[in-house]
Amino acid sequence: MAPYDPNEMRPEWMVPSGVFVVTLSSGERINGYAAGWVVRVSEVPVILQVAVWEENYSYKLAQDAAHFAVHILEEGQQDVARHFGQTCGRQLDKLEGFDTRSGISGLPILEDCLAHLECEVIFRRVFGDHIVLIGKVVDSAIHRDGVALIHDYADYHDAPGVYEKTDCD
Ligand SMILES: Cc1cc2nc3c(=O)[nH]c(=O)nc-3n(C[C@H](O)[C@H](O)[C@H](O)COP(=O)(O)O)c2cc1C
Repeated sequence: MAPYDPNEMRPEWMVPSGVFVVTLSSGERINGYAAGWVVRVSEVPVILQVAVWEENYSYKLAQDAAHFAVHILEEGQQDVARHFGQTCGRQLDKLEGFDTRSGISGLPILEDCLAHLECEVIFRRVFGDHIVLIGKVVDSAIHRDGVALIHDYADYHDAPGVYEKTDCD
């Protein structure tokens, strides 16, 4: 783990998380983004929450997406997280080249991950600079055995907390 300069670090950046890819759609538009902010909010039924940043192309889709799918990445899949987390879906089809299956909602489900959970949106609200989607799991599957990828800023940032991503105009 790379050492951090405490002067450049913020306490909120130290909240641990896994690394996920969230796919979502709105009309004909389909996209995926790398996510760290994924939490379970209910066990029975299983309900998950994601939060989408207003600067992301995915934010537009999240405003009326009926479903989203959470894919749990495996240790060593930082390249996948960089692909979905440092490029903008407005300019390119980020899912091109990835093996996918169609979920029961029609969303693309990435094959190359530890597990996925497909959710129907049951709550949507803007909080600060993110829109929160809460979704009831309507389908899920374990794809393979493995250890989940844990978020480490050093994997994605030249300086802690600074995303080097392509323009998303
Ligand atoms: C490890 C990692 C975790 C991230 N977590 C989130 C997140 O929880 N919510 C979010 O909106 N963006 C998150 N991002 C940033 C988006 O993935 C990134 O801005 C992406 O380029 C957005 O793609 P889009 O513009 O195609 O929607 C994360 C990025 C990385 C690398």
